[in-house]
Amino acid sequence: MDPFELLKADHRKVEQLFTELESATGKKKLDVFAQIRMELELHAQIEEKIFYPALEEPKETHELALEAYEEHAVVKDLLKQLGRARSADEEWEAQAKVLQENVEHHVQEEENELFEKAESALEEEELEQLGERMAAEKEKKQSSAGKASKKSSKKSGTSKSASKGASRSTAAKRTGGSKKSSKKSSKSSGSKSRSKKSAAKKR
Ligand SMILES: [Fe+2]
Repeated sequence: MDPFELLKADHRKVEQLFTELESATGKKKLDVFAQIRMELELHAQIEEKIFYPALEEPKETHELALEAYEEHAVVKDLLKQLGRARSADEEWEAQAKVLQENVEHHVQEEENELFEKAESALEEEELEQLGERMAAEKEKKQSSAGKASKKSSKKSGTSKSASKGASRSTAAKRTGGSKKSSKKSSKSSGSKSRSKKSAAKKR
């Protein structure tokens, strides 16, 4: 399976959900957000578990892969904060917009830079295998998430936040060893670090 097609299909789905979010009102807005959260968390999980580790090794993709972990951490943090809301007030809307902008930036960087470099850095067979593994992992997670939500529909999302915490600390560990490269990458990409900052301010 083509890993890029798989990830791009996820990206298009989330874009569509963000469009729905804009026009939704009242409780429907939070429902659409819950869907966005589920999609993004699943997508981030398979990328962090399978795709990014394979891209950390090659020189061409090393920096972008480390940067991608950091961008995921920012997005996951925003998802967590937005997920706490009982209703979508003005502040929530503003934060949701920041989430959307961060996701859009990340998607563009992946599709316009990372995927291209990954294609030249890795063998075709290796890419194919990554695609297969990501598709399988996604299916596994989707079916176990379905079972879990049936089991604990009364408890709201405690297991989710626990697993998120774990994946964040993995990302932090990974980047911890390469401060030089992440510094460099934040310098070279002014517009992104600005959007990260605005996300951080919100916190
Ligand atoms: Fe990603």
